[in-house]
Amino acid sequence: MDKVRFAQIEPTTRCNFTCGFCAGRAMPQEDLTWDTFQATLDALPDLEHVELQGEGESLLHPSFFEMIEALRARNIKVSFISNGSLLSERAVDRLLTAGIEKINVSIESADADTFRDIRGGKLEKVVRNLEHLMAERKRRGLSRPVVGFSVTVLKRTRDARHGIYALYKQLGLDGGITLQPLQTMNAYARHYKPEMEEQELDAVDADKVLARFFSDPTLRAIEGAREARTGFYDEMAVDWRAGSHTCPYLDHGLYVHRDGAVSACCMMKDSRDGLGKIGVTPLPELVAARQVMRAQLAKGDVPAPCAGCSLARFAVMDRFSLLGFALRGLRDRVVGA
Ligand SMILES: C[S@@+](CC[C@H](N)C(=O)[O-])C[C@H]1O[C@@H](n2cnc3c(N)ncnc32)[C@H](O)[C@@H]1O
Repeated sequence: MDKVRFAQIEPTTRCNFTCGFCAGRAMPQEDLTWDTFQATLDALPDLEHVELQGEGESLLHPSFFEMIEALRARNIKVSFISNGSLLSERAVDRLLTAGIEKINVSIESADADTFRDIRGGKLEKVVRNLEHLMAERKRRGLSRPVVGFSVTVLKRTRDARHGIYALYKQLGLDGGITLQPLQTMNAYARHYKPEMEEQELDAVDADKVLARFFSDPTLRAIEGAREARTGFYDEMAVDWRAGSHTCPYLDHGLYVHRDGAVSACCMMKDSRDGLGKIGVTPLPELVAARQVMRAQLAKGDVPAPCAGCSLARFAVMDRFSLLGFALRGLRDRVVGA
């Protein structure tokens, strides 16, 4: 717990999609500089796996592939989350050559009109890109990257799972499906327009939706068929799945914002919730600040920056409620990629 083995690094807040729930659309639109990226690698010498993801579309960063190559040169595994629209043939070639562990593509609905309405992009293009990625991976005889879906569940898409499972199977994906309910954390919700606020599920509703997703035999078969531990989140969450009463990000991770600010995870958007800054705050101080939050959550007391987070809620529920006990078996597929 005294090392930073897993970090999410935010390449950019710029995006070519317009998802109405994305906090990134309200942030300054800017890229991580190469100097900050290098300083991050220098500051975190124990990194094993980096997820290049933040509030924008990482493939828009002009040096995205160079970042991957620099990480791979240090033998650090790389995963990322993408909207899937920029996985062109050229991008796929560079990704397969560099060696990526996992790509999760975000989707809320397999219906093209609903997808476009929510994300402001074309599902058809994402599907074509994924078809090419999977075919080219096969042609090269590779087993990586595994490719899965990241699903954000809105009220209007609470029953969209069947279409998503069918598309997953049609595309021959193998990275599994991770879910997160539309965030109710203030850092996100304060940017929602009234029509997006209406899409929030309350905690009880969210648990019911998640339980329906995870008890569905099709998803159980999908999850049963995939390799047990692939990708950033799977690897970071090993201790947590074994019974840590905290949160996988507080156990091992850090999030580096595109301006070098550091927080415990990608769900903390407010600089007041930060742990420090790359190039300014020494690593032991960053880790000590993370440990303070971890110790607080381990006592069953949710740290203020974690208020509203499903992971924090599960950590506390595990101890104090029967529902928490029942959800324990489900929680490991909630949040993260
Ligand atoms: C911020 S996006 C960035 C990566 C990429 N541009 C994409 O669309 O996947 C990363 C993930 O966070 C999810 N996400 C963003 N805002 C959210 C919110 N308010 N509630 C729940 N999930 C959210 C997205 O759906 C996506 O799966």
